Amino acid sequence: MTEQQENNQPSFLDLLLEAHVGLERQGPGSRETVERALSFLGDLNRFESIADLGCGTGGQTLVLAEYLSGNIVGLDMFPEFVRELDKKALRSGLSERLKGVVGKMEELPFEKNSLDLIWSEGAIDNIGFEKGLSHWRALLEGEGLDRQGASVEKEKK
Ligand SMILES: C[S@@+](CC[C@H](N)C(=O)[O-])C[C@H]1O[C@@H](n2cnc3c(N)ncnc32)[C@H](O)[C@@H]1O
Repeated sequence: MTEQQENNQPSFLDLLLEAHVGLERQGPGSRETVERALSFLGDLNRFESIADLGCGTGGQTLVLAEYLSGNIVGLDMFPEFVRELDKKALRSGLSERLKGVVGKMEELPFEKNSLDLIWSEGAIDNIGFEKGLSHWRALLEGEGLDRQGASVEKEKK
């Protein structure tokens, strides 16, 4: 449980997590929408270091791992979701290059210029679209694309 309440009843957050943790996705996307977004990115082999922010239990992260050969970190604030992602990665034989991290989108554990691609489905609005894009942009090496449709470009050094 995330919170111990005085009356020992689960909190609203506990119930929310319980309702979502067993779902393939916590948002409205699909395999097809991930594939369509990927189709805009050109050569997928150039992405070596990828982050999926607000990954939930990793519905889209697993699809990304099918198409991208690089290392992928799925980050979410809820350990319950990240544990599910790690289990799925293990079951799919992807755990060497797909790892879950518990963290917050506004305090990301990545170095500047360390990512080639940032993916985020249905999650950036939790910290605000503009704030998210301006904060995340510094983490990108070269250029990247945010799944929600905004292109994040950075001049090459
Ligand atoms: C609508 S769900 C989308 C999940 C997943 N991307 C999908 O499409 O199935 C939003 C996700 O963002 C996560 N989230 C919300 N605020 C966050 C924050 N500040 N830092 C990290 N994750 C956050 C939630 O835990 C949730 O998993």
